[in-house]
Amino acid sequence: MEGALDALEYRRVVGRFATGVTVVTTVLDGECHALTANSFTSVSLDPFLVLFCPEKPARLHDAVLASGTFGVSVLAEGQQELSRRFALRGRSLDGQFDGVPHTVGPLTGAILLRGALSTLECRTVSTVDAGDHTVVIGEVIGLDVPHPTGAPLLFYEGRYGGYRP
Ligand SMILES: Cc1cc2nc3c(=O)[nH]c(=O)nc-3n(C[C@H](O)[C@H](O)[C@H](O)COP(=O)(O)O)c2cc1C
Repeated sequence: MEGALDALEYRRVVGRFATGVTVVTTVLDGECHALTANSFTSVSLDPFLVLFCPEKPARLHDAVLASGTFGVSVLAEGQQELSRRFALRGRSLDGQFDGVPHTVGPLTGAILLRGALSTLECRTVSTVDAGDHTVVIGEVIGLDVPHPTGAPLLFYEGRYGGYRP
């Protein structure tokens, strides 16, 4: 069955699920890592659990497994450039946050982006090996809504867009 399915068609089909866009961050040995991720989702209300799925080759992957904590910034409309920046494979980690307004999460040391719609700080409670990705499940230990009236950045069929109620 698996062999009969086409990878491009698979991407086309799952890409028709519209998502928001987040930047997930972690800090390990003083080095800050970031990854644009639309695999973020909330999982449980009791306790507060969320997940995201880093690809194994991404540099944040091993760093987040080792650090055991991560931050999530939910991007707002107009933050496409930040999404692109932290999705650029192989970019220099040195200075990757230069010129990007941010704060440092008080509980995790992870970078939180200032213009984000909402931010979360999380402690990893479980990981699941999943093909070329790992599912990272985190307990939410810190929350903020810096921009209560902001609008979300959306991702659909490989393109960015805005939210229309
Ligand atoms: C909108 C969008 C969503 C993405 N979502 C994910 C994701 O959920 N998981 C993931 O591993 N990569 C995702 N990527 C790709 C990574 O951001 C990208 O491969 C990564 O930053 C490369 O990091 P590296 O330079 O350490 O290899 C996404 C890219 C975009 C543009």
